[in-house]
Amino acid sequence: MSETPQPADLIVFGGTGDLSMRKLLPALYHADRDGLLAAETRIIAMSRGGLDDDDFRGKVDAEVRGSVPVDDLAIWQRFLARLHHVTIDISGEDHTGWARITALLAGHEQRDRVFYLASPPMTFGPFCRQVHRAGLVTPASRVVLEKPLGRDLASAQHINDEVGAIFHERQIFRIDHYLGKETVQNLLVLRFANAFLEPIWNSLWIDHVQITAAETVGTPGRRGYYDHAGALRDMVQNHLLQLLCLVAMEPPSRNDRESVRDEKVKVLESLRPITGGEVDRFTVRGQYTAGVSGGVQVPGYLDEPDSTPPTEASQRVETFAAIRAEVKNWRWAGVPFYLRTGKRMPYRSSEIVVQFKDVPHSIFPGSAPNRLVLRLQPSEGIRLHLMAKEPGAGEVALKPVPLSLSFAETFTARVPDAYERLLMDVLAGNPTLFMRRDEVEAAWRWIDPILSEWESQSLLPEPYPAGTAGPAGAHELLARSGRAWHEEESR
Ligand code: BG6
Repeated sequence: MSETPQPADLIVFGGTGDLSMRKLLPALYHADRDGLLAAETRIIAMSRGGLDDDDFRGKVDAEVRGSVPVDDLAIWQRFLARLHHVTIDISGEDHTGWARITALLAGHEQRDRVFYLASPPMTFGPFCRQVHRAGLVTPASRVVLEKPLGRDLASAQHINDEVGAIFHERQIFRIDHYLGKETVQNLLVLRFANAFLEPIWNSLWIDHVQITAAETVGTPGRRGYYDHAGALRDMVQNHLLQLLCLVAMEPPSRNDRESVRDEKVKVLESLRPITGGEVDRFTVRGQYTAGVSGGVQVPGYLDEPDSTPPTEASQRVETFAAIRAEVKNWRWAGVPFYLRTGKRMPYRSSEIVVQFKDVPHSIFPGSAPNRLVLRLQPSEGIRLHLMAKEPGAGEVALKPVPLSLSFAETFTARVPDAYERLLMDVLAGNPTLFMRRDEVEAAWRWIDPILSEWESQSLLPEPYPAGTAGPAGAHELLARSGRAWHEEESR
């Protein structure tokens, strides 16, 4: 990023909400501290909050400052001075806020203007119509949409139509923050900047792939959102399918805005649909019950403290999902891709495990197949598990040992948070790491039949105690074909 940053106006709708306070503002502060924001760049939060600029600056000072390194007070003050707050009524009946934002933006039509919608998806259409009505959409405007984009294919198409009626596709940035994680980008570099992997990156050499996003956190205070989402919509439709795409896609001809996304869409369109009776065979859903997590007794999903009480629908919500997916093309025929995500798991870990086939004929007892593990978090890195001989005389004894690349040990530079990277890409107008309309819709097209089968069943998700690795069904999903989840084998 050696180019001089251009002045921009970043307007965050939902600007006092959780995402903004926990992720966006810290990311923008880091960018400011690294000299990546032009002096004139402004951050304008819009919310129903009834705050003025000073109130908002005070709130950020109180709530964000403790979570970022403030080693130079002048930089922190400079950051606070960029902040503004406009109280807005999305229904458009109260015009005061719209008049204020119009006045703030007047005279700055040439600047990059980014509308970041950190709000529920049903507000995307109405918000876009309002900014259009207020005459605020300039040719240099972009809009950023937070996930989840809709709750099924039909609602995603509806939102895409609504936003598309105001903004051109090249102005729409659909965010999936997993794509901003360092290791995820490194996956592309590993695959396409090293020659040795490509010849073995196929069904001749690879037995199966596991993609896991396990979290120790539960959902306290999130019932309002999570009851309508569940793990499939919250994590699989976007984050896990994006990772699957990056593992499975063909080499793009260029690392540009369309080539990578074209290849990802082809993967999504090659996913074998899981429909009707197959849903029970190839998917597992679970819900955590009370248990011990991180040494502490925690409540089950239904008893999580929340201002919204649980309903009958809450009992049907999956906090864990596992799926055996298949990519039906020449490269991947017959290679299962196991996807898994869960709340209140025993550890926090997001990783991709590529398990190679065993040697065709083993002359040593105790050999095990090679495995490449790409760890997204915590401690980002890459490990290649090889078989080695244990030192010593007598019988040859084998031991799996890792060739290990730890990013923290190898690179000393600060690893930017995923949001920081993605926000800078939005400001630079680079959409490569954002989802295109056809990608989002192809992902929903594959997810929809699973959702509707789950929703039509009277069976509830399988319970699993908090602090355990999901329901028994998840183990059986792999055990049926003689396989096991990575950590089960390494125990
Ligand atoms: C979000 C989900 O998209 O990703 C959350 O809505 C989840 O439920 C989070 O906790 C996980 O992100 P990360 O970066 O902590 O793996």
